[in-house]
Amino acid sequence: MARKKSEKEVIQELGVNEQTPREIVEELNKYIVGQDDAKKSVAIALRNRWRSRKLADDIRDDVIPKNILMIGSTGVGKTEIARRLAKLVKAPFVKVEATKFTEVGYVGRDVESIIRDLMQIAVRMVRRQKTDEVKEKAAENATERLLDILVPEPKRTQNPLSKLFGGGNDHEPVEEKAEEPADNAGREFIRKRLASGKMEDQVIDLEVADHAKPMVGMFSGSSLESMGDNLQDMISSVMPKRTRKRKVTVAVARKILEQEEAEKLIDMEEVAETAVQLAERSGIVFFDEIDKVAVKGSSSGPDVSREGVQRDILPIVEGSTVMTKYGPVKTDHILFIAAGAFHTAKPSDLIPELQGRFPIRVELKSLQKEDFEKILTEPQNALIKQYKELLKTEGLDIDFEGEAIGRIAEMAFDVNEQSEDIGARRLHTLLEKLLEDISFDAPDMVKEGKTSVSINAAYVDERLKEIAKNRDLSQFIL
Ligand SMILES: Nc1ncnc2c1ncn2[C@@H]1O[C@H](COP(=O)(O)OP(=O)(O)OP(=O)(O)O)[C@@H](O)[C@H]1O
Ligand SMILES: [Mg+2]
Repeated sequence: MARKKSEKEVIQELGVNEQTPREIVEELNKYIVGQDDAKKSVAIALRNRWRSRKLADDIRDDVIPKNILMIGSTGVGKTEIARRLAKLVKAPFVKVEATKFTEVGYVGRDVESIIRDLMQIAVRMVRRQKTDEVKEKAAENATERLLDILVPEPKRTQNPLSKLFGGGNDHEPVEEKAEEPADNAGREFIRKRLASGKMEDQVIDLEVADHAKPMVGMFSGSSLESMGDNLQDMISSVMPKRTRKRKVTVAVARKILEQEEAEKLIDMEEVAETAVQLAERSGIVFFDEIDKVAVKGSSSGPDVSREGVQRDILPIVEGSTVMTKYGPVKTDHILFIAAGAFHTAKPSDLIPELQGRFPIRVELKSLQKEDFEKILTEPQNALIKQYKELLKTEGLDIDFEGEAIGRIAEMAFDVNEQSEDIGARRLHTLLEKLLEDISFDAPDMVKEGKTSVSINAAYVDERLKEIAKNRDLSQFIL
């Protein structure tokens, strides 16, 4: 069995990325075209986590992460960077939309729920790690329980009733001896068959816990949210554990039993403590659409609430303690990355205190024709690849020839110039329009024996040029 890891080691493994800033940028490059400044600053921020981990305790506490504000018009990759970062970081990471929150007392989620969500993620991470550590032991225990089911042995089962009424301890040794020859042979025979994987598809009756939680949702979406959480836990802990019988294959049963056994072996209190540390030290919160809560001057109507949201965000960004069901979480060392288009509002329209908490500003650039060309083809699962794969499922191969991609990119750029700049999202609308007929006809084409279509510049022009040229038309269609 794997050696039990100390709290510190667990955090070490989970909390920080070992990659150098350059490696992090390379990873992001696989998905996002350009926007080097933004990539660079998030990479530095991540590396700073790794650096501060190496500091002596007394200085480390004073090193507070420098929060980042990403500014760039719509569709240039802000949210995409956040999404990719989320997959990349080994730390607890939440991405939230600032618009989802309202001032305490209004309808909507309260800001502290962000930290509670972060904690949930941290707990899940630590629990997964601990589950890994006890995996072997859990698997052993699960096998024994499988054997109990497959080779029912009335004398051996740990039926509490038989213990109560069966005469107790002095009785047992006799039992053991008596059953040994015959029963054990059966059990061992089945054990071998199990191990050889010959019984995986056999269906058995398994007693499983009934996880129905009737209380879910009653409190969510209000500022009573956290109370709801706790209440739910309280109620489910006093309610008798309900179980029901399920017919499952041995393979599925083993999974369920391993999970149950692992849970028994894990000390949840320890998990909670480690998770609090992990969230405090390594947590990252991404605030998307932060500009939507920035307002200038006026103080009536919905704006009251928006400024209120900023005031609520402030203590969390600044460093405060949030109560969660796993214990109090200090937010001082959590890294915040905010992003917004800032089309109408400017960063200076945020309340000054909040502006000051985002010292690093990075600008994401408007996308050019060359960027569009790359976005169409280069990233892993780029748009063109997606369409190709989708149509391949029909048996139709589509191919983009010569200048076709260049033409699409050019049109996207032109339409963005003429009407509104919606960044790379324009590519989605253009491609959808371009491939509309092919998408519709694909099954029929294949039926008639046509298995490939190639799209050249002329086809792109034919399908899109009129629309793209005509501003009134493109405003509606593209
Ligand atoms: N630089 C880029 N590289 C690759 N894909 C991009 C890039 N910019 C945008 N995209 C693609 O365009 C779409 C929209 O991008 P994203 O959601 O990141 O926009 P955003 O900057 O968050 O805009 P908004 O301000 O409207 O939220 C996504 O599908 C994304 O994959
Ligand atoms: Mg976005």
